[in-house]
Amino acid sequence: MNDDGRSEAWREVARRARASGGIRIASLLRDEPARAQRLSLDAAGLHLDLTRHRLPGEALDALLALARASSLESRRDAMYAGEEVNFTEQRPALHVALRAPAGAAAGAIAGEGIAAEVAATLDRMDRFSEAVRSGEWRGATGQPISHVVHIGIGGSHLGPQLACEALIDHAHPRLRFRFLSNVDPRAFDRAVNGLDPATTLAIVASKSWHTLETARNAQALRRWFAAGGIGHGDLHRHLVGITANLEAARAFGLAPESLFPFRDWVGGRYSLWSAIGLPAMLSAGPQRFRAMLAGAHAMDRHFAEAPLAANAPVLLALVSLWNTLALPGATEVVVPYSDALRSLTAWLQQLQMESNGKRVGRDGAPVAWPTAPVVWGGPGTDVQHSFFQALHQGTGVHPVEFIVAVPSGPDPEGRGDALLASALGQREALLHGRSGNDAPAAAQGAPDAAAGQAAAWLAAHRACPGNRPSSLILLDRLDAERFGALLALYEHKTAALGWLWDIDSFDQWGVELGKQLAGEIEPLLDAARELPAQLAPDLRALLERIRATRASRG
Ligand code: F6P
Repeated sequence: MNDDGRSEAWREVARRARASGGIRIASLLRDEPARAQRLSLDAAGLHLDLTRHRLPGEALDALLALARASSLESRRDAMYAGEEVNFTEQRPALHVALRAPAGAAAGAIAGEGIAAEVAATLDRMDRFSEAVRSGEWRGATGQPISHVVHIGIGGSHLGPQLACEALIDHAHPRLRFRFLSNVDPRAFDRAVNGLDPATTLAIVASKSWHTLETARNAQALRRWFAAGGIGHGDLHRHLVGITANLEAARAFGLAPESLFPFRDWVGGRYSLWSAIGLPAMLSAGPQRFRAMLAGAHAMDRHFAEAPLAANAPVLLALVSLWNTLALPGATEVVVPYSDALRSLTAWLQQLQMESNGKRVGRDGAPVAWPTAPVVWGGPGTDVQHSFFQALHQGTGVHPVEFIVAVPSGPDPEGRGDALLASALGQREALLHGRSGNDAPAAAQGAPDAAAGQAAAWLAAHRACPGNRPSSLILLDRLDAERFGALLALYEHKTAALGWLWDIDSFDQWGVELGKQLAGEIEPLLDAARELPAQLAPDLRALLERIRATRASRG
């Protein structure tokens, strides 16, 4: 379909979204017989329920027409085929190749040569992990490794940490993991607190090997090892690197055998599946790591093969897009009811907001529609006691995504059941609300007019309007396969949204400017340097104040 078709499809979706104000989700659930069949589905071991949105069936038809008019399928195919879908950096985005089974469709998906390279790195990761896990890998003093400190930030941190937590049931009993991302020295102190350098393994993970935080922390860690008696000659037993910039890592002092490579066609926020996932493999073992890859691959196949109308990532993307139009200003609240998924929100924030926080389309012109809703949230049930009040009774309407992993095994205190019931109860409350007329007996059935007014007043405060949208992603259990499938679901949702908006989901130019300016400002903190004459007055005043504060501290 030509662009006119796309613009018309957009206008039709927007028109329906504008007209959706009075829609009651309960009415849609009651009156649309095909609703459950159209908006709930199973894919790669996950159950997805999108029925509780203010999205009527005809609007879903309009969204699917938009997906077709946006050439979603051919763009997806282009990504799988290794075309330069990251068009501003002229690179493919081939994370799907990292989880294609060895020897199978990898060649077709990834193009010549990639499959063998991916398999070789995985095999090296396997051997290294087995050596560390078995205790065969010894530190400089001959002791096995007990602690792993992973240094990285953004995509080089969030995925590995999330995966270690998600696969906690399979965690190696001897190995403990710490994650160091922030350049704040206190973060470093916390990461190494109580650790013995002789039994510590550090992993420096950085695609670019230039990231400020990771570079400084890696230097600090090398100093920490040296102070603990691990000199340069022994460092290879305690420090390994993961990077796409092998030259810079070698210049840092790492030998090729201490380096696990990946390629620049793996985006940072899509890199868990590459060598960046090493901490997860060390913790849960090579078999579980490969099971995670297999789960992600199952979702890759679903995304590639299922028709648009029955395609989980596509439907998730279309519902998200709908909400940006039907509920202007709405954010996306993500609430995993699983302690093991407590870091999912942080990972999703980078995935969705770094990928799609863009304001111009492929042609460089501003996009006509809002992109990348703010993603936030936290683990249930904790967040029920912090921000859920606003979700139930606040003036804004924010769709909530419930991610529920059915807890395993009986629990003497019934905590798993309490967790499940809380998720389901909150969903019901968001949908149905309550009138508020169920006020305590003292205020009800008031004998006189004043008491009657008081009851109405209290009812107004107690009333929950309901009709608040939510999604549910149900995992029969949280295992490595389903975890991999869950992350791949979100990756493909994010890419699909990018194609609908016609933006580049795989670049991140916006984060560069702040980094560059920090680099220019840092030398100016040195009181011995004269501040440049052209410095903006407010920045000059701030720097002078900081310098004076430091001077007064001595
Ligand atoms: O924040 C920008 C960013 O480039 C992310 O995209 C990336 O995940 C993160 O920094 C870390 O980058 P690197 O892995 O190169 O250190």
